Amino acid sequence: MSGTLPPTRSGAAHAAVLGLGAYRPRTVVPNSALVEAIDSSDEWIQQRSGIRSRRWAEPDETVQYMAVAAARDALAQSGVDHSEVDLVVVATVSHMLQTPALAPAVAHELGLDRPAAFDVSAACAGFCHGVATASDAVRGGSARNALVIGVERLSDITDRDDRGTAFIFADGAGAVVVGPSDSSGIGPVVWGSDGAQFDLIRQREDWRDVTMSDTPRMPHLVMQGNAVFRWASYEMAKIAQQTLERTGISVDDLDLFVPHQANMRIIDAMARAMKLPAHVRIARDVADQGNTSAASIPLALDRMVQEGDARSGDLALLIAFGAGLAYAAQVVRVP
Ligand code: UT7
Repeated sequence: MSGTLPPTRSGAAHAAVLGLGAYRPRTVVPNSALVEAIDSSDEWIQQRSGIRSRRWAEPDETVQYMAVAAARDALAQSGVDHSEVDLVVVATVSHMLQTPALAPAVAHELGLDRPAAFDVSAACAGFCHGVATASDAVRGGSARNALVIGVERLSDITDRDDRGTAFIFADGAGAVVVGPSDSSGIGPVVWGSDGAQFDLIRQREDWRDVTMSDTPRMPHLVMQGNAVFRWASYEMAKIAQQTLERTGISVDDLDLFVPHQANMRIIDAMARAMKLPAHVRIARDVADQGNTSAASIPLALDRMVQEGDARSGDLALLIAFGAGLAYAAQVVRVP
């Protein structure tokens, strides 16, 4: 018996983002609503992070509700028929069930035809991991079209009394449809991780420790902010540069820079290190949206489209980084 298999069905020559959608929770929370609990000030928060306000979800704005809302927008814009979505990837760290994943429930509520559906746990880098996975699936022939959603309700897992995180984390959802294209619309991913820095951003305790404790409490996110800040500001600019090189373009070819929305000072430091030319428009959604982890990049791109800073056909460098530490970056063409 020979061990060979028949040749694999090949996929599309190229993949592209075909549609983009977003959901921003209704409730705007200004810095002034938080500062008393953390002995801070609106001025300090704005100066250190660039954040003026964020959105926190109400009880009815569940991760599933927000993911479905963003996905509906993305599907409508893409024009892709529901029956032709074969894969749903949800990037999140705030779906409160260990199992099953959020993706099958989202796919079912959207009325999709039983696609492959799973969650990606790569924290703030999750959305770009999802886009890379979807692009490979479309080009490899394992999905005709894929839906990638980044969604978070970080307000559920943020300690409102923690000075280092209470003003940063926020809620929302963004989604894209990835499908076949005549020309390349998603460049090669540069991704990786540094597990030596595993503890820099993490859930404080594991679930067993929580349930066995005499005083069970939500295991909130904890972060060594300054160490993450330095890593992101210096190391991520190098990853951005590698991404352009692997894509075969230079900063001059870019129209948009859409980094993970963690802190305005990190965004500025990366832009300086990359020597971005003045014509490259930079996403600054963090100012009014806070840090929404896996949702931050599609939300930031959506704002640029809504405000006329991004146009169809623009080339956008996406770069995401966070807990793990994990990172992923790619250049995409705006649908
Ligand atoms: O999304 C995943 C990736 N996450 C990130 O990329 C986040 C990266 N980190 C950051 O954005 C920043 O580290 C923060 C915005 C969280 C903090 O800014 P920082 O410039 O790194 O502040 P720090 O932690 O070094 O603290 C500086 C000072 C300290 O006082 P002393 O020791 O200099 O007297 C802190 O006690 O600021 C004090 N401080 C505060 N003061 C008022 C810390 N937090 C606060 C606060 N309000 N909330």
